[in-house]
Amino acid sequence: MKKPPAYRDPALSVDARVKDLLRRMIVEEKAMQLIQQTIGKDANPDNIGPDNPFDPLVGSVLAFDGGAAVRNAYQRAAVEKTRLGIPILWGYDVIHGWRTGFPVSLAQAGSFNPDLTERLSRVAAREAWADGGVNWAFSPMVEVAHDPRWGRVVEGYGEDPYTAGVFTAAVVRGYQGRKPGDLARPGHIAACLKHFVGYSASEGGRDYSYTDISGRALWEWHLPPFEAGVRAGARTLMSSFNDITGVPAVANYYTQTEILRHRWGFDGFVGSDWAAGAQLRDQGYADDPEPQTLAALLAGNDMDMCDGVFRCIPRLVEEGRLKAADLDRAVGRVLRVKFELGLFENPYVPELPVEKTCQLPDARDLALECARESIALLKNEPFCSVASSVSPQGAARNTPPGRSAATPLSEGGKTGKMPPYERGDAPKGQGGVLRAAGMHPLLPLDPCKVRRIALIGPMAESYQAHIGSWAARIASDATGATNYLEQVRAFFPKAKIDVEKGCGVVDDGDFDAIERAGAVAEKADLVLFACGEEGGQTGEYKSRIDLTLPGLQDALLTRLVAAGRPIVALVTAGRPLIIDRLLDQCAAVLYLWQSGARAAEAAMEILVGRVNPSAKLPMTFPRHVGQIPVYYNAHRRSRHWAKDYTADLEDALPDGPLLPFGFGLSYTEFAYGPVKVAKRGGGFAASVAVTNTGSVAGKETVFWYLTDVWATYTQPVRRVIGFEKVELAPGETKTVRLRIDPLRDLSYPDEDGQRILEEGEFRLSASGRAEASFAYCVPN
Ligand code: BGC
Repeated sequence: MKKPPAYRDPALSVDARVKDLLRRMIVEEKAMQLIQQTIGKDANPDNIGPDNPFDPLVGSVLAFDGGAAVRNAYQRAAVEKTRLGIPILWGYDVIHGWRTGFPVSLAQAGSFNPDLTERLSRVAAREAWADGGVNWAFSPMVEVAHDPRWGRVVEGYGEDPYTAGVFTAAVVRGYQGRKPGDLARPGHIAACLKHFVGYSASEGGRDYSYTDISGRALWEWHLPPFEAGVRAGARTLMSSFNDITGVPAVANYYTQTEILRHRWGFDGFVGSDWAAGAQLRDQGYADDPEPQTLAALLAGNDMDMCDGVFRCIPRLVEEGRLKAADLDRAVGRVLRVKFELGLFENPYVPELPVEKTCQLPDARDLALECARESIALLKNEPFCSVASSVSPQGAARNTPPGRSAATPLSEGGKTGKMPPYERGDAPKGQGGVLRAAGMHPLLPLDPCKVRRIALIGPMAESYQAHIGSWAARIASDATGATNYLEQVRAFFPKAKIDVEKGCGVVDDGDFDAIERAGAVAEKADLVLFACGEEGGQTGEYKSRIDLTLPGLQDALLTRLVAAGRPIVALVTAGRPLIIDRLLDQCAAVLYLWQSGARAAEAAMEILVGRVNPSAKLPMTFPRHVGQIPVYYNAHRRSRHWAKDYTADLEDALPDGPLLPFGFGLSYTEFAYGPVKVAKRGGGFAASVAVTNTGSVAGKETVFWYLTDVWATYTQPVRRVIGFEKVELAPGETKTVRLRIDPLRDLSYPDEDGQRILEEGEFRLSASGRAEASFAYCVPN
């Protein structure tokens, strides 16, 4: 019997198998490995269809449509009908779940619980593989974003590079497994860190716009999460659309080869983003497929997504313009990932009914667990009285930022103010102050005492509101998500419930409907205002200039306030919205983001106190778009640096962000002891004792903020170098510890990424609640 070729032998090393296979391939076969076609959409440049037949030699398929059976059929053609039988890599945008809907990435970050993200990514991989035949997820999107106008903030993990890195690594572990061999096991898929790099710096938050990124910004903000993902073992990256100091990312040698390969030792492959090769023409960088291909390939971009420009590779080789070694390098990287995925041994996925593979009980339970920790309580005060002098047509749109159109909810004129914060650090919970004054915050509610609820707002009965963009195959109807109405009924079985939309999400509608909603609110003893953005308002090409509640929702709020009943705002959104009016005029505000299939249920658990909210904001909330960018780790100003996070704007009072990074309330209070820093080995050991001083159990995230007081290059006011979420029973104290490694934590990058570690004074703060100074001296 003929001996099978060496590349088919799983006992050999991946290197040896790649080498053997490359040796057998002809140029046309190699070129096809670097090409990705799409299925399931019309009018895409390289969509498989009547004019563009499927080529079984293709390296990858981006599957907008079709599940396991379709994938197996294509795979069969590749594996059984081609000379070398190289399997196809089946890719898709699995972003926050496949069929089970988990919180969007930005909401996940707010949980500050990366363990949940690792677990949900594991489930997403399992479902995507079994139901969709997916081997390669185009996620995580790890870009640090400072501009909430940019629609894609929803896909990332917020404004902090350290946090984004921690969550990136969690996704990589969830998709690929924790051990090298895991990737080849059923239900494991390759991660793709995207978009490499700096896409989030789009000018003005406008998608696909120019990005002007200094070397320092690149190394300080944009690269760290990618480095964390590469170190966690991510097998692929996707290059971005933008350019970096004048060179488009897809053609950027510095980022894709110098940094990624030479410095970080990455040995997986880089794919382009959608038609980025062909878009080099739009950017005025390269006009035709040939220069586009050379620019991308020689810079280190190995696979081309869907625009067909790489089809000229054989001609380039024939004409001597592309060296065989350059082609082999890219092909070898793609093949390596296919071998690592075990595709040569197991090219097919089982074809099972969806009930056997998706939305299994453990997945649905996990969706609830994640939602509970992603939903942030942003305000919780007593309901006293409300000004009713506001006209239903709403004065608020033109209200100066930071001022309310209606008289704020008040307790001696004090409590309608924004939560206090000091230098942007997490504010102290307000509950204690209010209780001391004999007042009780509205939440948690006692379901037995609520007799009549008005559920008002465009999201009242929406399933979709909780799902968000890039929903893969997440079911948004009764088979997947729940909605508020169902959950209000379940959690308040004794209450009479009136439902009114009042207005649509974006319509410019009908003041009669608003008036009807107001009349319903007047009869209720609790108003739940289900407001916000819908999924389609964030995501790719979904930037906005106005971040207030869309459509007539602001006017609806005005009418509800005039009804004079306590309002709990339930906000769904894929970005920080400008919610100053909600914070002024509602007794409580719960920010759900888009927290997935079971978000509505988790929100009710929080309302009735079955769950104590613990999420913190992963992104700063501005008061006004004119403040953007506003983010916690900004560099110091030349005046008043101690008042960081503020801008002394002439017409923006009060100053500072509406809500700072790290903000989020709880039903309990946490006291912080002093921060202690001691020398340990060549570094430092820091600790802080945190005590739950309230009467219910709760979870607190301790943020470790570092300030480098004097440096050769100016430094951010502070930056997170660690965080930990701890659960504390009433009265319990836990000591939270941090190891400070000088090179990792005290150094900073220069414009070429070289780490600079300087002697001198540093300050370490625990959540802005306690702080210590220490000095670093180079050991003799
Ligand atoms: C997006 C990517 C996405 C790709 C495939 C592009 O337009 O920028 O994030 O992975 O499409 O859907």
